[in-house]
Amino acid sequence: MQKKCRNMCIGVFDSGLGGLHILRSIVRTIPQYDYVYLGDTARAPYGHRSQETIYEYTKQAMDFLFSAGCGMVILACNTASSEALRALQEKFGAKQKILGVLIPAAEEAVQKSKNKRVGIIATTSTVASNKFIRELAKLDPDISVFQQECPLLVPLIEEGEHNSRETETILKKYLAPLLHKKIDTLILGCTHYGILENKIRKIIGPDIAIISEARVVPKKLKIYFEKHSELEKTLRKKSIIHFYSTDGTDSFKILGSKIFGRPIEVKKAILV
Ligand code: DGL
Repeated sequence: MQKKCRNMCIGVFDSGLGGLHILRSIVRTIPQYDYVYLGDTARAPYGHRSQETIYEYTKQAMDFLFSAGCGMVILACNTASSEALRALQEKFGAKQKILGVLIPAAEEAVQKSKNKRVGIIATTSTVASNKFIRELAKLDPDISVFQQECPLLVPLIEEGEHNSRETETILKKYLAPLLHKKIDTLILGCTHYGILENKIRKIIGPDIAIISEARVVPKKLKIYFEKHSELEKTLRKKSIIHFYSTDGTDSFKILGSKIFGRPIEVKKAILV
């Protein structure tokens, strides 16, 4: 068990590059802290894997981040949040705090939706877990939820294809059934999809509210620190960010710098 100490970093974990989009927004909102980002690019995508595998991979990632000096970790990956968050929170205990991204997004969607028809796009595992549906139902039992799995989007984004015409065509196909259901709010239930927000907006038009975790999570995290000053005081505030990836290739650095919005240096992480 980790000692309660000071000078701790905030860990941010994603299966790959998509979480950099969330980290970028977090750093813009609360730049004073130190962060450690870990992307498990060697084993991404997680979205089609079994719950046992997602749990095991994510547990290894938590071990790595807590050993690297993190006092808390944000599980930016929706797939890991859906399939492993509860079990990991129990395993790591209250002193090694792990926060997910589903509840903040669900809360925002409930606030925004007027016709109570909410759409979700997510990975196959996140959709199969029905976690979003359960969280939304807890917040408002009258809400109708429509899910759409989008298995091709993460591989396309990880390959740097987010601006391609093929990606747009596939997005149109995925979004059509949700538009047919007359949703007025759309949750981008995967870290990677925030990168496609402009394309999604173009397809769905101006009237559907988009819930992007890149906007919601930093706002909620700031409020969380205001409420949990005992945790906040343990965090180091030197604005240093370390980036780790499990595949050790240059593509994380190149694509990651684009997604993060400034050049990043990446170290290789070995997860056991
Ligand atoms: N980034 C993950 C998420 O938010 C999904 C990517 C993957 O399939 O690995 O769901």
